[in-house]
Amino acid sequence: MKKRVLSGIRATGRLHLGNYLGAIKGMLALQMQQEHEMLYMVADLHAITTPYDVKELRQNRREVIIDYLAAGLDPEKSILFQQAAIPEHAELAFYFSSVVTIARMQHLPTFKDKVKQYPESATMALLNYPILMASDILVYKGGLVPVGIDQEPHLEVAREIARKMNQEYGTDFPEPIRFKTVGEYVPSLTGTGKMSKTVEGSYITLTDDLATIKAKLAKVPTDSGTIGGNIPQEGGVANLFTLLKFFCEKDVFVKFVIDYREGRIRYSEMKQVVAEAIYKELQPIQEKRKYFEEHKDEVDTIIKEGGEKARAIASATLKEVKEKMGLL
Ligand code: TRP
Repeated sequence: MKKRVLSGIRATGRLHLGNYLGAIKGMLALQMQQEHEMLYMVADLHAITTPYDVKELRQNRREVIIDYLAAGLDPEKSILFQQAAIPEHAELAFYFSSVVTIARMQHLPTFKDKVKQYPESATMALLNYPILMASDILVYKGGLVPVGIDQEPHLEVAREIARKMNQEYGTDFPEPIRFKTVGEYVPSLTGTGKMSKTVEGSYITLTDDLATIKAKLAKVPTDSGTIGGNIPQEGGVANLFTLLKFFCEKDVFVKFVIDYREGRIRYSEMKQVVAEAIYKELQPIQEKRKYFEEHKDEVDTIIKEGGEKARAIASATLKEVKEKMGLL
């Protein structure tokens, strides 16, 4: 049997370069290999673990599928679906919660960060986030997960759950590992932390036009350009170099490194080059997006058929788990 791949992106707004380089690029690479059975979902259940707007969620859960299609995921090769359409995800998450302690969840850095961000909304759904994610992967017995490096603590939880379930109940869940991409960590335009949908001014979306990309890059904090020496490890300048590395040819990257070292870098020029390189990669995606925006029925059919295929696999796993746990 082919090894299964499962990944997802939260339905919390427009996708950005972090999602693209960390997750979608990996999904595309695996699709090229054609060695695995691939399931790529939009995590709409995860979107309700932090405060959200009902109307926006309804829109976003569809937009992520359109972004997948626009970026080149092919429904003939990859199963594309919406998480909430498969009730087995939430059901399995409840069974899994019986083998996870509260303390383990409370101490996760991802949980602590979100509580800091939304102190009024430290809900049970948020605490359960990693368990639901483990369920997303394991309900398909997924062994490989293309996601950014920030998701590693969640994958560790998924592996622990797989081990525990296999020990306690004799299931055969694999211990899922992360499929890494070159751009597994995309830094924020603000100069601190990672590019994130929930941090204003930190990201470039897949639908930004050239003028928008330029305007956003213009705000990245830099220095006088006359310091010289080694490129800094963190901050706006460091992050510009990271983007340069991801999107430009090596000789262009080297040119700006030398300019920096010699204390004569012109950031306006560098930002211009980075903006154009990013847009060059995004433009074909935006073209393809237009097609799917105009062919609504086609997208509806893809979502419906993807959901049916996913559900067939998920319900077989649930039957097995319930039997083994004495619930059937
Ligand atoms: N937590 C992931 C993120 O924020 C989204 C996600 C939900 C996911 N379920 C998943 C990723 C299952 C991979 C596999 O990016």
